[in-house]
This record gives sequence, C-alpha cells and structure tokens, in this order.
Amino acid sequence: MTDTRKSPQGEWSSHFAFILAATGSAVGLGNIWKFPYITGENGGGAFVLVYLLCVVLIGAPIMIAETLMGRRGRHNPITTMETLTAEANADPHWHYLGWMGISAGILILSYYSVIAGWASGYVLKAFTGSFFGADAPAIKQQFADFIGSPIQLAFWHTAFMLATMWIVKQGIHNGLEKALRWLMPSLFVLLILLVGYAMTTPGYFQGLHFLFNLDFSKLTGGSVLTAMGQAFFSLGLGMGAVMVYGAYLPKKVSITETVVIVSLADTVVALLAGIIIFPIVFSNGLPVNSGPGLIFETLPIAFGSMTGGWLFGIMFFVMLVLAALSSSVALIEPAVAWLVEARGFSREKAALWAGLLTWLLGFASIFSFNSWAGFKLFGHNLFELLDYVTANLMLPIGGFAIAIFAGWMMTADHSEAELDLPKPQYQIWQLLIKYLAPAGVFFVFLHVVGVL
Ligand code: PHE
Ligand code: NA
Repeated sequence: MTDTRKSPQGEWSSHFAFILAATGSAVGLGNIWKFPYITGENGGGAFVLVYLLCVVLIGAPIMIAETLMGRRGRHNPITTMETLTAEANADPHWHYLGWMGISAGILILSYYSVIAGWASGYVLKAFTGSFFGADAPAIKQQFADFIGSPIQLAFWHTAFMLATMWIVKQGIHNGLEKALRWLMPSLFVLLILLVGYAMTTPGYFQGLHFLFNLDFSKLTGGSVLTAMGQAFFSLGLGMGAVMVYGAYLPKKVSITETVVIVSLADTVVALLAGIIIFPIVFSNGLPVNSGPGLIFETLPIAFGSMTGGWLFGIMFFVMLVLAALSSSVALIEPAVAWLVEARGFSREKAALWAGLLTWLLGFASIFSFNSWAGFKLFGHNLFELLDYVTANLMLPIGGFAIAIFAGWMMTADHSEAELDLPKPQYQIWQLLIKYLAPAGVFFVFLHVVGVL
C-alpha cells in the first residue's frame, strides 16, 4: 500500500533535480548573510566549531529523518504527520508539529524577504556604481541611509515577495529546477573568485585566524544556542520544508547520500562566505560584531576598489537574491502545499494568500530598522525577536520532535525501508536519531536556562 502513495503535486524529475532543489533551499541568506555576522558577534572560531558539530551530530541525522518522513507521508507537513501517526498508532497530537512548521516558515520568510530586499536594493546600487572609490565610513553611511528608509525597504520586500509568489504559483518543479542548474555552480565559482581577492588583502590571515582559532572563553550559553539554531536554519530543518521536498522525492533515491551532499554544500558555502568577509573586515579596521549589516558594510568596499569590482558587485548581489529566492520558495511551500492539499485551494490562490500574509508580517521587520527601532521587548527589536524565536526556538523544537518521532514512534521496519541502508549504517543513524540528536538539543536548552 505504501509504495503506491504519491504526492498529489508530482515529483522531482530526477535525483539530480532533487539535490539541486534541496541545495537551493539550504544555500541562501543563512550562509552568506547570517553565518558571517553571527560568527562575528559570537567571537569566531569556537562558535564555528560548535556550529560544525551541530551540523554533523544533530543537523544531518535530523535531515535524514525529516526527508524520510516526508517521502513516506507524501504530503504537506500536517497531512504527512496525520498519515504517519495513524500508521504508527501514535498520539494524534503529533500533527501540531506540522502546524508549528508551517507557522515557522511564514514567520521566517517575513523577515527573510526583507533582508533579500536589501540584497535586491544592493543590485541596483552596484549597478549604478555607488561603491566606486567609497571608503568604509561612506559605505557604512549608504547602508544606514538605505535601511533608514521604510519606503525603500518596503519596495524591495514587496518585489521579492512577488517574485517568490510567482515561482511558487507555477509549482516548484517547473522553472526552479532549470534556474538552479546554473545558479548553484556559478555562485560557487564567484565565491571562489572572491576568496582569491580576500587572499590579496592585508587582513587575510587575521580573518582566517578569527574564523578558525579556538578561543572558548568567548563562548557563552547563548552562543551555543545560536550555533545550534543556525545549524537548523542553514540546513532549512525543523519546519517542514525538508518534509515537503521529501514528499516530492522519487522512491528509489538514496536519502542519506543526498543529505550528505546537501549539508556539505551548505557548510562549504557558509565557510567560504566567512573566508571572504573577515579579511575585508580586518583590512579596513572594522568591528566584527556590527550585526545584520555586516556583509552590506564590508563587501561593497571590496567591490568599490577591486579590478572588475563593478561586474563582481552586480553578479554577487544578483546571485545572493537568486539564492534567497530558492530558499524563500521552500519556506512558503509547506503552507502552500497545505492550502492546496487540505483546503482545496488552487496553487495560484494558495500562493497569493500565504504570500499576502507573509508580506504583511514583513512590515514588523521593516520598521524595526527605522521607525520602530526604539521599540524593544526583552531588549530586542521585532526583527531580532522574530529571528530568535524562529531560529533558536521553533526550529530546534521542531527538529527535536522530528527526531523523537522518527526514532521512537515510527516502526524500525518503516524507517529502514525508506533509508535502505546496510545494517551497520542504519544502526548508526538509529543511535544518532534516538539518543544523540535529541539529547544534544535538550542539553543546549538546559545550558541556556542555566541548569547545566
Ligand atoms: N536554509 C536557508 C538559508 O540558509 C533558509 C531556510 C530556512 C530555508 C528554513 C528553508 C527552511 O538561507
Ligand atoms: Na543555509
């Protein structure tokens, strides 16, 4: 019976297409915008090490679990959880996991789109030559003026959401697959070229030192949580995006192999971004902890002074926007799939309503950078709060629940059939998903509340 279960919305055309789509969902602003600035805020190397440990020991096993649950359930996260709980005779309350995922996706996209809007605005700045010969203070001022303008931020946020809705409406297999085929390799090549540039700057070794030198004195409970949250955010885990993408995955494809490729690609892109940004930071005597503006205050200095900087600048920001787009469609897809499958919406209508809600919520983040900058709850503005609640709480909690479900609720027969691994490898995964990954998430939480 299970073998005939198919996603009502079709499947990826090939194994390679799935790898592309999953990489497209993973690689995005999380790698190029967020990873460098939170690494800067959390002291560098030791934070990076904790991040890498979280990716390998917690993220990858949970990504395997989330993909296999999606492929077995074959639907949006809520319906999938309903199917899987029925099959496993588990408590029906598990379907709230699907609800939390859909909400997390919308909440994340609401600010993700605003930041993608910054990148879009910077395509125009790069094109009009705004960075030519500008020094660090001038570049910083340009950024301050830009985010200080709610009108400009709203314009680009709107444009980005429209683009997301337009892609989602056609179904994520059409168009997206083709675009990613050249986008991912080109992004990679561009990053390598920029690493080449970073090597010529005087701050190169200082940058590397910051990124890889282990100084554990800078590591607080909060940084450990941020590192774990970033592992979930960057891999796109714990909110059902991987689950819906898994639902479109053909039966024969090896899930573990795919997860290894995708998590490796995601990690490499984040590290490359760090290797590019920090040398520029140190070469210009800038602070490492300048927050969400970090890449917008550093990279333009490089583009404004290097040979070919005009073209590199345009290409960089264009690719950043496209990488963000291939993630934004994954963030909204759980909601859209649910509206289509469980509420009978057409894809067009589903994209419209989910997009409209996300767009409206986005204004909370837009105003956090200007009109409402002084409005703080628990010492954080609305953008910071949204980021904290989603990345540091909702995604790890969702991931924890996924680990518990895949490890303890699903029968081993079912997970074994989906993974189709040799016995020893399957047992390693069982060990990780039953004990290590959930315990890891749990201990990090205990550490933050000060119990451990
Ligand atoms: N992984 C994406 C990034 O790093 C963001 C994302 C989060 C995408 C959750 C899908 C789901 O930019
Ligand atoms: Na990522």
